[in-house]
Amino acid sequence: MKIAEKQNSLLLKALHCQNSSRPPIWIMRQAGRYMPQYRTMRAKYDFLCLCHQPELAAEVTLLPIRTFGMDAAILFSDILVIAEALGRGLRFEEGIGPIIDRPIHSAKDLETLPKPMISEALGYVKQTIQLLLPQLSVPLIGFCGAPFTVASYLVEGRSSRDLKKTKQWMIREPHTFHQLLNHVCDCTVEYLKMQITAGVNAIQIFDSWAHVLDHSHFRAFSLFYLKRIVLALKDTGVPIILFCRGSSLFAPQLAEVAPAAISLDWNADITQVRRQIPSTIALQGNLDPDILYGDRNVISSAAKAILEGMKEEPGYIFNLGHGIHPDTPMESVHTLVDLVHSFSTS
Ligand code: CP3
Repeated sequence: MKIAEKQNSLLLKALHCQNSSRPPIWIMRQAGRYMPQYRTMRAKYDFLCLCHQPELAAEVTLLPIRTFGMDAAILFSDILVIAEALGRGLRFEEGIGPIIDRPIHSAKDLETLPKPMISEALGYVKQTIQLLLPQLSVPLIGFCGAPFTVASYLVEGRSSRDLKKTKQWMIREPHTFHQLLNHVCDCTVEYLKMQITAGVNAIQIFDSWAHVLDHSHFRAFSLFYLKRIVLALKDTGVPIILFCRGSSLFAPQLAEVAPAAISLDWNADITQVRRQIPSTIALQGNLDPDILYGDRNVISSAAKAILEGMKEEPGYIFNLGHGIHPDTPMESVHTLVDLVHSFSTS
């Protein structure tokens, strides 16, 4: 995508709080199992295999753009490829999700943690981005997991409901837990710099597990590292979107980091959050993904409530409050995207 077109895209304009037409829309986890075309590809290839092969990853990235006309593409990959680069072994199992073969149990394991050459270990991501750019007429969003969320998977070894091991370590030995976060943070900054050099137009950081933290732990173990990342990338000028589960509660703290945008989970009334956040920071969100199980009227009235509420906002991006569910009807996604596309701000 050429620079001039890029600046004119609805997403980039909204991220700079300068959009005067209808809001752009993209959907977290937009390339995934709810799409039959994705399931066909997954019948042939393992999930990580799709991530590792640039031609395939690029193909999957393009699926929702071709099918629905989303206003942004998000790179097809996973936040846990960093765990793989750190040599901990990563697998995805049907019905279980991600599995880290060699989780990090204690400070002792930190001694064995390598400092990988990210551009080599994750070079396939760079190739995917380079393959995608000439094929895209909308901006490409790169992404990563926040250090706290990635560290929690490294410690738990798989998805966990309460992050008990992670929180026990954090509470009993904060100093060494910070060492783990620092290590992940350094790798993450290098990883994002690689994505930016390759040409992504924006970055989203996913802190999917931040909601398990209390206010002060959120500051110390999540926000601190988000701030380090945002500062480290400031000179690149690439806009950064911060997403947390818990962002409707933590939005004022996230605003202190001065990201381009905050992506809200679905708990808050987005129009009220708008009043608490400086007008230089865009907001993204925040339709409950379950609304897409409703019929056309249900989807339409819930989406319109948000669209009307954010009508005059130059810094607003339509999205869900979290990733789309794998069993979401395709028809619902068509309904939603068409609705946002035909929404008139005049
Ligand atoms: O948004 C997109 O379309 C881009 C690709 C993307 C994936 N994962 C692909 C994926 C993105 C941005 C992610 C982020 C991610 N991965 C997060 C943060 C966002 C969130 O939802 O909170 C997290 C926590 C992960 C870790 C992860 N990856 C889990 C827990 C799982 C299993 C549960 C699940 O949703 O399947 C995955 C697997 C995964 N990542 C799939 C996809 C398309 C499904 C893999 C399959 O085909 O079986």
